[in-house]
Amino acid sequence: MKSVLERAQSGRTVAMRMSKSSEDDLKIKREVLSRFEREASTFDLERMALGYRLRNELVKKLLIEEHRPHASVLDLGCGTGEYTQLSVQIGYEVVGGDASRNMLSIAKQKIRKHRLARRTELVRLESTRLPFRRCSFDDVTCIAVLDSVPNYHRLLAEARRVLKPDGRLFACVDSLWSPYRLFRLGQRLTRRERGYTHAFSSMELKASLTTRGFRVERLFGDVLLAQVALRLLFDPKGEAVASKVLRMTQPLDYYLTRLPLLKAFSAHYFVEARKTEF
Ligand SMILES: C[S@@+](CC[C@H](N)C(=O)[O-])C[C@H]1O[C@@H](n2cnc3c(N)ncnc32)[C@H](O)[C@@H]1O
Repeated sequence: MKSVLERAQSGRTVAMRMSKSSEDDLKIKREVLSRFEREASTFDLERMALGYRLRNELVKKLLIEEHRPHASVLDLGCGTGEYTQLSVQIGYEVVGGDASRNMLSIAKQKIRKHRLARRTELVRLESTRLPFRRCSFDDVTCIAVLDSVPNYHRLLAEARRVLKPDGRLFACVDSLWSPYRLFRLGQRLTRRERGYTHAFSSMELKASLTTRGFRVERLFGDVLLAQVALRLLFDPKGEAVASKVLRMTQPLDYYLTRLPLLKAFSAHYFVEARKTEF
């Protein structure tokens, strides 16, 4: 029987090709790509840093709650394969795709180590020009990727194209007004760090999805102020106390950040959207 990748592959070669982008977009994409190539070996350590720990938990919770056994999923911008691995473990047949060779090579090692290679394929690709046929996947996951792609509207259009009718997109992005992000922005300015990243307001995220042929079924945020307070109060690697405080504040924050007015202060937005007919 053919694998999900064999069924999905279009005539295009599975090589990375840049979509028709403006010169500016291309420049940004190359800069983003070289950043991820450099960061690949430390990327999984960052995931456990205080600012990302809750995000990681909420992404996992969302995928586990919503998974459809035996369905196919494209993990777009799979990075080191954290959610690729989870998706296989919860029963999906998975294709993970990313532009970064170094990220993919770490993902490959993980998949092999956990003996998941039979139900997983990893492909180097450019997210705005996918080498797959239309209507190939039941679901697409896109975690922390839209923020790095300057012409992310094209990514959404491509995600919709490769989704089957009624297919779902799960995405997570940085929130524009996150106190944590503003704090980081201040830090980066003082250290003169550069690098493209786009943060979303919930309205922009919703509007982008709706105009690209998705119906937003769920949109929620994560921790409100707890992460900033914790970051200021504790050494981010001082795990024990920080984890306890975070665990206590999480349930409250989780519900508060569903409220329209407070949602804006989330650090990230999580969205589940369904492909619609135009
Ligand atoms: C912040 S990482 C997230 C990785 C993974 N989804 C996770 O949450 O662990 C963003 C990933 O998107 C990939 N990426 C960025 N721009 C891309 C593009 N234009 N096409 C394909 N992948 C891209 C990067 O190489 C990187 O692995």
